[in-house]
Amino acid sequence: MDKYKQQVASLISSALDADAGLDHSAVLAKIERPKDAKMGDLAFPTFTLAKALHKAPQMIAQDLVANIDASGFEKVVAMGPYVNFFLSKPGFSRDVLTTVLSEKADYGQNQDGKNGNVPIDMSSPNIAKPISMGHLRSTVIGNAVANILAKNGYHPIKDNHLGDWGTQFGKLITAYLKWGNEADVKKDPINNLVKYYVKFHKEDVNHPELDDEAREWFSKLEHGDAEATKLWKWFRSVSLEAFNQIYDKLGVQFDTYNGEAFYNDKMPEVIQMLKDKHLLKESEGAQIVDLSKYDLNPALILKSDGASLYITRDITTAIYRDREYHPAMNLYVVGSEQTYYFKQLKAVLEEMGVPSAKDLHHIPFGLITVNGKKLSTRSGRIILLDEVLNDSIALAKKQIEEKNPDLPNKDQVAQEVGVGAIIFGDLKNDKMDSIDFVLEEQLRFEGETGPYVQYSRVRAESILRRVPDFDADTSSRDLDDPQAWEIIKLLNDFPAIVKDACAEFEPSVIAKYALRLAKAFNKYYAHTRILDDQNHLAARLSLVKSVSIVLKESLRLLGVKSPDEM
Ligand code: ARG
Repeated sequence: MDKYKQQVASLISSALDADAGLDHSAVLAKIERPKDAKMGDLAFPTFTLAKALHKAPQMIAQDLVANIDASGFEKVVAMGPYVNFFLSKPGFSRDVLTTVLSEKADYGQNQDGKNGNVPIDMSSPNIAKPISMGHLRSTVIGNAVANILAKNGYHPIKDNHLGDWGTQFGKLITAYLKWGNEADVKKDPINNLVKYYVKFHKEDVNHPELDDEAREWFSKLEHGDAEATKLWKWFRSVSLEAFNQIYDKLGVQFDTYNGEAFYNDKMPEVIQMLKDKHLLKESEGAQIVDLSKYDLNPALILKSDGASLYITRDITTAIYRDREYHPAMNLYVVGSEQTYYFKQLKAVLEEMGVPSAKDLHHIPFGLITVNGKKLSTRSGRIILLDEVLNDSIALAKKQIEEKNPDLPNKDQVAQEVGVGAIIFGDLKNDKMDSIDFVLEEQLRFEGETGPYVQYSRVRAESILRRVPDFDADTSSRDLDDPQAWEIIKLLNDFPAIVKDACAEFEPSVIAKYALRLAKAFNKYYAHTRILDDQNHLAARLSLVKSVSIVLKESLRLLGVKSPDEM
């Protein structure tokens, strides 16, 4: 569209009277894209020129049209105070389809990010606890944001900031040594570790000495005691194995797993930096950073017994990333309940003069419930994420059995559809919306679902399979089909959509776009007998192929697979 905007601007500025005082770039800035297709594809408004030209806007528009060379356009007309340009359909569709078909999966790629590093703190579940729906959201949102950043020329670094340190490990060690056994943990690590932890909290109400024991174990752990370290490492590795099964299912990989513990030996230097900058203040024995200047509560950095806290490790993490990556941005995909906390973190880093602090962005998100139930580790109404994924895959399998019983790789497709439904069902919403997930709804092949988008592309692929000698590299792309026009314009929008999604860190921009494109394509599919008209066949297949490419790439950005058949 840019090329056409330029062309329109040139035509207008050469036809415009010098008294108007508008140069080419001023004209360019005024050009609009009308919402209503009846008003053409590009429009130039004339009301602001009335004063300078001593003429009514309607007149200006008419005079401009009279002086403009409209060849190359379908038509150029004056409508009230506007000059409306209707693009030549064959020419524009040729341009758009040629770009898509030659760039293929690279279509929409830009270099705005100049290869700048962007660490993305994402997923970050806590060791020895089940991964929650919040962690799932962080994983899928973070993964999509990483793909979108890469599409915009950044270099994302996906870091799983595991919750693998803190006083709870003293409790866990105490509980395990009292009530646990190795075989159980090996069989079902997370559930058993949680059981010990829950038991600890039940028992310590009446046996406060348990707390002393736990404190002692944590202190041993902090001082590198061999037994404590061995247990901690073991808990960490069995938990990570369980998490990795879920990540595998979701198809998400990480670049680093630098959990909180990774920063232990890096904290003393950071405490010293805080001291040197005179930022640490004593308050009731503890060490705090005053943030009243930011209108925030003080950040507690060290407890009175000298123990570090979550924020102490996060400050250290941010400084480590700053030195290691010289990041263009620092992203944290963490639930909205930590919004205040990230304000404090950013403020402390700004006080310390950490260069990338100003580009720290917390990307918050709302709560998901599944079939009305909340996921929680403590309450009895736990729904395990793994179960949700398995249920979804089973439902997908059932649908495929009904619709396409002869499909050869049913299990793989069921996996791609079932998992895709969950990821898409999450990502189609604005991040901050709280959503209740009803699995059956997310799996429908019609409606605003992942399977609907996947199925639309499957339709496109099945049309293409019916014409085996179609060659997308050489075929005609000149389409004057009015029904195709909406699709052509949507295809043309994709590069701008990629930019918007990046600017807002909002995968739903891509998901909503994919739904629009799928819907437009299905409408076309229903109303146009694509294969019947020999004169238009090649150009129509070019369109179908382009839709398939862009739907697949949209889904890939979201982290959703595109089966060719389903
Ligand atoms: N482990 C934390 C939790 O489950 C999330 C960590 C988020 N990342 C961070 N750098 N603070 O709540």
